[in-house]
Amino acid sequence: MIDARKLVIAIDGPAGAGKSTIASRLARKLGYVNLESGAMYRALALKAIMNDVSFDESAPLLKLAENSKIELQPRIDGNRVLLDTEDVSRRIRERDVTEGASRVSLHPAVREWMVARQRELGVNGGVIMEGRDIGTVVFPNAELKIFLDADPKVRAERRIEQVQAKNPDAAKALAEELKRRDQRDSTRVASPLAPAADAVVLDSSKLSVEEVLTRIEELILERTAAAKRS
Ligand code: DC
Repeated sequence: MIDARKLVIAIDGPAGAGKSTIASRLARKLGYVNLESGAMYRALALKAIMNDVSFDESAPLLKLAENSKIELQPRIDGNRVLLDTEDVSRRIRERDVTEGASRVSLHPAVREWMVARQRELGVNGGVIMEGRDIGTVVFPNAELKIFLDADPKVRAERRIEQVQAKNPDAAKALAEELKRRDQRDSTRVASPLAPAADAVVLDSSKLSVEEVLTRIEELILERTAAAKRS
């Protein structure tokens, strides 16, 4: 029997679909921990910038990862991220790191290292992990897999609002960056962004946060009841 408080919930999807907001709200409601796997790729990209290591070379990046301590501390409004004990939560959201995270995540060896760390974080269940490959690779046996999608235009608008890009040029640049990153994340050879075969695809373009949460809670109840019956 599955303990309702011990499920592993995977939330995957492109940037700006609302994964972090949904994961942290859901975690608060359920008493789960929310873990942003993307923050780990971001922390490695920051470390590469700090050490002048290229985003495009797998072996030095892997070495850098192996010599790093990347910690995620779940908080009500997202994850606090520590890189070698330094709080880098804000710095990793900046544009250079965002671009770098998408590039370091292309390397299979880097991904393997990340996936191993991410699995360790989920061993006890009670976890909502969000990212790009959580349902497909990190937790293929997750009890619930959500693929949260949204129209690219809507996602760009949300990002623009989030970073409070005020002038049209900045907003346009942001929309283009998002598009480029989506393209890279979903066409890479290693674990490209894609819904798992057994994921529930939710399009949040026209749904409020509350509506998405309600739908996911219904799914959790269904899954828990089904597990009790079997
Ligand atoms: O979710 P995010 O925007 O913080 O992720 C940053 C980058 O990290 C994203 O462009 C692709 C990569 N990523 C990944 O490849 N796999 C994950 N599970 C999470 C993120």
